[in-house]
Order: sequence, then structure tokens, then C-alpha cells
Amino acid sequence: MAILIAVTDRDVRSLQKKIQALLKGETEVWVYPDIPAPDQVEMCILWKHPADLLASLPNLGLISSMGAGVEHILTDPELSPAIPITRIVDEALTLSMRNYVLTAVLNIHKKLLFYLENQRKSGWVKPEQAERPLRIGMLGLGALGGGVACFLAGLGFEVLGYSLKPKKIEGVRCLSAAEEPLEDFVKRINTLICLLPSTPATYEILNYRLFRHMPRGSFLINAARGVHLRETDLLRAMEEGYIQEAWLDVFCEEPLPPDHPFWARPGLVVTPHIASITNQDNAAAIIANNYKRWRSGKPLRFLVDRNEGY
Ligand code: NDP
Ligand code: OXD
Repeated sequence: MAILIAVTDRDVRSLQKKIQALLKGETEVWVYPDIPAPDQVEMCILWKHPADLLASLPNLGLISSMGAGVEHILTDPELSPAIPITRIVDEALTLSMRNYVLTAVLNIHKKLLFYLENQRKSGWVKPEQAERPLRIGMLGLGALGGGVACFLAGLGFEVLGYSLKPKKIEGVRCLSAAEEPLEDFVKRINTLICLLPSTPATYEILNYRLFRHMPRGSFLINAARGVHLRETDLLRAMEEGYIQEAWLDVFCEEPLPPDHPFWARPGLVVTPHIASITNQDNAAAIIANNYKRWRSGKPLRFLVDRNEGY
């Protein structure tokens, strides 16, 4: 029997070696497109996988995402409803995301883009207020959003959090969709951080109507998925002064096309989907452990709830 790694955007040889070692060489680990016997594949690890892959694996019993997000699996029309799907939940992933968000928050707080702009003009300009007061709203309080919100609160920032179900996180004022509509939540804050999963309900959740409920001159950080943001709406909200600065790691089309207006928009920081990248050694441990659990009928770790979509 075999495990197939179908991850097409990076070198996964270290993941392959590590899974092989953890399974003591008892299970073959193949890397797409090298699939010597499709009927032997029991488990698949997927990221940007080809459209016709799942239908070609008749004995597939378990799927793991290579990352935290799973929308690329759930939206595959060939996915059988019976196959369990797991994902990566890892302290290293949270730490990396924490540091990305922290970089953005501190730069916004300390007005770094303002100084960089002045430096280009040799301008020595001291603002009256050195720091912007931030009231942070974390949209999504899961493995990543929950950890990052707690960390920012620990640094002394005022942090509110928003999720579907009620949550308790130390130092964070948590509100849920049942208690308050998102339009009201964003009135309370001036810095919106998106760490939501991609689901039908979160598609274009960051749109002009929502931005208009935020105080003028607010800030946006989207490190989740490009489809959360209606991109033209952000440009309009920036034009009209609702959003002053935005840090974006994810986009509707990746790589971001060279002629996309985001590249040149003042007040907009573009990073190439690097906020947090799966550590292959840690992922191998999670994947090998889940494979062993699945074979012995034990409960799986980090199982995706297919009804919720994350
Ligand atoms: P989780 O599944 O652990 O958490 C998702 C959170 O979002 C939960 O708190 C959930 O609420 C909340 N949520 C879901 N739908 C809604 C909604 N409609 N309204 C309000 N809240 C909602 O995900 P992770 O924290 O592990 O990851 C989040 C996302 O980050 C990933 O799906 C991925 O897209 C992205 N990501 C981006 C990376 C990058 O490099 N840019 C790297 C890694 C991940 P509840 O708690 O009530 O269920
Ligand atoms: C993820 C990602 O979902 O890298 O893990 O975006």
C-alpha cells in the first residue's frame, strides 16, 4: 500500500523522506506524477493537485491537506463524500502567522509607510502623534486567529475577536456571529485582521459594504485567502478614505498579475502568500500519525468538518 504526495508548488522530497522514516519504510511514499500503481494509494496529501487525480485512485481512504486550508480538496468535484479529510494544525504554522501579523500591526502602529514615503523625498517629517491607537478585530478565532489574537492582547493591544461559535480567549473580547452581525463588530475596531477559512459563507466577506461600517482611516490585514476580499471594493474603500492602509498576503489570482492595480497603490503592502508556510518535518509527523490512526481505526487528528467546510 502507498501514500501519494500530490503537492505541485514546492519540492517535497524532505516530506517524503520523513514520512517514509516515520513509517519505518513499511509503506511506499510516492510523489506525483510518479504513481507506479494507482490502486495501491490509500492516502493522499494534496496542494494544488491536478483536476483528474482523485478519480484515478480507486482505493483512496484518507486525504490530508498540505496546509491549514482545505477548500482545494472540498471543491474537487471528484471527491468522494465518504473519505475523511485532515489538515495541518501546528505550533510552527501559528508562530509564523503570528510573526507575519505582528510585522503588519507594528508597521501600521508605528506609521512605517509614512516614513518610507518621506524618505523617498528626503523628508524629515515628525507627526504629532508617533503611534496610531489600534483597536484590533480578529476575524476567525481558530488555530491561527485564536493564537495570534491572544498573542497581540498579551503585547498590550486592545483585541476583539469574531467567530461563528462563542469562544473564550485570555485578554480578547470574543464575540460570535450569533451575538452580533459582522457589520456591528467592525464598528468597534479600526484594524481588521482576516484569518478565516475559505467557505461559501466567507466568500467576499471583506467588501465595500463592510468597510463602510468601519471608522474612516481604518486598516486591513488579509492573510487568509484572496477570495475573502472583493478586490475592487478595497480600492474604492481606500479611494474614499474608509481604509487607509492594507497588508495583503493572498489574492484572487496568485501570482498577482503584473498589471494588477494593487502593485502600485500607495498604502497597500503586497506579499506573495508567505505569511506562514507548512514546515515539512512537522507535517510529516502529523500525516504519518494520522495514517497509522486510520489504519488501526483510531480517531483522526485535525479532522475537517465537511458540513462546516473547514
Ligand atoms: P480554523 O479552521 O482553525 O479556524 C477558522 C476560524 O474561522 C474559526 O474560529 C471559525 O469559527 C471562524 N469562522 C469560520 N467561518 C466563519 C464565518 N462565516 N464568520 C465568522 N467566523 C467564521 O482555521 P485556521 O486558523 O487553521 O486557518 C485559517 C485560514 O488561514 C486557513 O483556512 C487558510 O485559508 C489561511 N492560511 C493562510 C496562510 C498564509 O500563508 N497566508 C497559511 C495558513 C493558513 P468557529 O471557531 O466558531 O468554528
Ligand atoms: C495554508 C496556506 O492554508 O499555506 O496552510 O495557505
